Amino acid sequence: MTGTIETIEQQLLSEQQLAERVRELAQQLDRDYAGKRPLLVVVLKGSAIFAADLMRQMSSDLEVDFIGTSSYGDATESSGHVRIVKDIEASLQGRDVLLVEDIGDTGLTLDYLLRTLSLREPASLKICALLDKPSRRRVSIPVDYVGFSIEDHFVIGYGLDYASRYRNLPYVGVLSLKPA
Ligand code: PRP
Repeated sequence: MTGTIETIEQQLLSEQQLAERVRELAQQLDRDYAGKRPLLVVVLKGSAIFAADLMRQMSSDLEVDFIGTSSYGDATESSGHVRIVKDIEASLQGRDVLLVEDIGDTGLTLDYLLRTLSLREPASLKICALLDKPSRRRVSIPVDYVGFSIEDHFVIGYGLDYASRYRNLPYVGVLSLKPA
């Protein structure tokens, strides 16, 4: 279909590793949000699977809403231009908001979301990212909760895509792209 050969080079994080770390994050979040009603804002689409697993492991009295952003399109490099393609329905005013992300890469998406959503006057605004690639940062962002800090691999699966595919893999894998 394209002039590229796609190979899943390795399984970086197994289903079991993901499940264990998600459970730990959920426990930490339950402790930190004790007595509060956090609003989890899931950053579509990549975070859908992580968020579904995370919230089911949490026992907090939480609410959930969704925001859609796009900056990569079908490319492997960020365009550098973040767009909101679907906005949150809930008011953020006075709420304890937790942004749930699949991955922090250049940081441009989370930086944009922090700046945009803080204007809506939440009581607190924090970030929980399953994966973090600190070596790729173009802007500094405070990631309050990180599942796994990883090397600069192109990762797919457990919600993450390449050209809209591979999101349904139950593990996180490394995709290699070579010219055909
Ligand atoms: C991906 C990912 C993050 C963002 C991280 O989203 O889900 O939201 O890129 O990259 P950054 O730190 O360089 O901004 P994408 O725009 O590909 O949309 P998707 O989640 O719908 O795949």
